[in-house]
Amino acid sequence: LELVLPLMALGYLSGTWLGAITVCRLAGRSDPRLAGSGNPGFSNVLRLHGSRLALATLLVDAVKGMPVLGLAILLGLPPWGQGLVGLGVLLGHSYPVWYRFRGGKAVASAFGVMLLLTPGVALCCAALWSLLAWRVRTAAVASLASAAMAPLAAIWLAPEYVPVVIGFTLLVLGRHALNIRRLGRGDEPGL
Ligand code: G3P
Repeated sequence: LELVLPLMALGYLSGTWLGAITVCRLAGRSDPRLAGSGNPGFSNVLRLHGSRLALATLLVDAVKGMPVLGLAILLGLPPWGQGLVGLGVLLGHSYPVWYRFRGGKAVASAFGVMLLLTPGVALCCAALWSLLAWRVRTAAVASLASAAMAPLAAIWLAPEYVPVVIGFTLLVLGRHALNIRRLGRGDEPGL
């Protein structure tokens, strides 16, 4: 535990680096928090500024937690400890202290964290996300379905990480509360 808490704090700090804000600022494009869904994330950057900046956003958000998580793995933390460090990254992304705790929905950051901890689960989620985003043209539907599927994939591919993945899923689902309400009303914006 004396290793888990400091690494979780470092994970939180790395998570607070929001790819969407950095990428749009560097490219001289408008802040994604001011238009579209207002979410600083891959999907809203795609909606507002196209696929190149969206992919750059995805890259930053997916890799930012990897150094700290890699350290957690190297230091031999058990799966639950690695999971708490990963949760730190997701919490930093969703509740960044620098942006008055208003961050993103933790989809890309959860993908990056799982790519290190449970690569098979991450790839299953990415495949389902891409398929649904392509067919249904709604990012939130793709994210909600992928998040719901992740624990099932973990039961199959990485049983020791199931509690960890359930934690990530609950955070991602919770961050989509507004999307779920809009989907119910039928006015969720497409991609
Ligand atoms: O990846 C986040 C996505 O699920 C929803 O984003 O911008 O459509 O609310 P957005």
